[in-house]
Amino acid sequence: MSNVNKIPIWFMRQAGRYLPEYMKIRSKNPDFLKLCFNPKLASEISLQPIKRFDLDFIILFSDILVIPYALGQKVQFLKNHGPALSCINSKKDLNYINFKKCLDKIANIFETIKILNSKKGTKNLIGFCGGPFTVLNYMIEGGTSETHSKIKKFVKEKKREARDIIKILTELSIEYLKKQIESGANYVQIFESWAGLLEREEYVDFIVKPNMQISEEIKKFSQRTNIIHFPRGSGKNYKTFAEKVYSDVLSLDHSYPNDILSLLRKKKVAVQGNLDPRELLVEGKRVEEKTREVLEKFKNNNHIFNLSHGILPNTKISNIEKVIRAVREYETSK
Ligand code: CP3
Repeated sequence: MSNVNKIPIWFMRQAGRYLPEYMKIRSKNPDFLKLCFNPKLASEISLQPIKRFDLDFIILFSDILVIPYALGQKVQFLKNHGPALSCINSKKDLNYINFKKCLDKIANIFETIKILNSKKGTKNLIGFCGGPFTVLNYMIEGGTSETHSKIKKFVKEKKREARDIIKILTELSIEYLKKQIESGANYVQIFESWAGLLEREEYVDFIVKPNMQISEEIKKFSQRTNIIHFPRGSGKNYKTFAEKVYSDVLSLDHSYPNDILSLLRKKKVAVQGNLDPRELLVEGKRVEEKTREVLEKFKNNNHIFNLSHGILPNTKISNIEKVIRAVREYETSK
């Protein structure tokens, strides 16, 4: 097989509950955040999907909500419920002192990255953080939300407060990513999972500008680090994002406008995505067909194969294997 056509592949949430080897460790470690701060176990979990599937990217096992925790907010992960954060309404509710103290609280994560760096061989190593608005969303909603009514009200009625917290989150995320890069990450992904909640000037102020600042500072700090942005649900705003924010890779869900592909070719930005994770729940040959559809759609772009969102907990391992096989077969047929 020639390497020229090799399509790199990884899956968002590749380390997680669909893997029995993850569940084995998880069942003995009921406190999810503690597990994130255990370098030995967190590095082992990060490597589980690599050992099983020989994927091209290792992603750090951690969570985007370690940042509110570092800022002094109470963060818990409750069984069958997801994250639960204490209530905050303003910057004053966070009694943080400085960024160094914040990063000291989560310093074990950098140890995990160092272990992974020593074991990564030829694989890429992805560090990550949440996009500032997405992290703010969880901080204000206090967890997962169906309606997002609190955050929508907050950005409309308390714009100054929202701006103040976004500024802190942006600056802290930059310092956090720099430490991850120093520890060995050669890619960073910024998960702006709730970008789709905002429109017009709010999208520019709370999504475009903070992500621009992160890219600029990371590139200044380390030219060779690759930046993946994932402004999920951006829809037609994906174009505004691609025009304004520097990315090496743009992760796409299904909301993107078609003409973005030529824009990304022109800007030499690779595309990441975008098999729907729900396809991995379907029996039979459909998942292979859907995989080939994705490969065809992006065949004229630099492409990193991935999903449009994270792997779902009830995904069958055999379906992941089918997807990987279909990607490898597609490469050799070219
Ligand atoms: O394998 C990987 O992708 C690396 C690890 C990783 C996790 N979370 C582990 C995790 C990454 C990159 C994340 C990102 C993350 N966390 C995002 C952005 C991506 C997205 O899904 O939109 C968000 C929004 C979060 C916040 C979060 N963490 C929620 C809402 C939940 C509960 C919902 C759920 O899926 O359970 C989590 C928990 C979480 N983060 C788990 C894992 C493996 C499950 C925890 C468990 O074992 O019970």
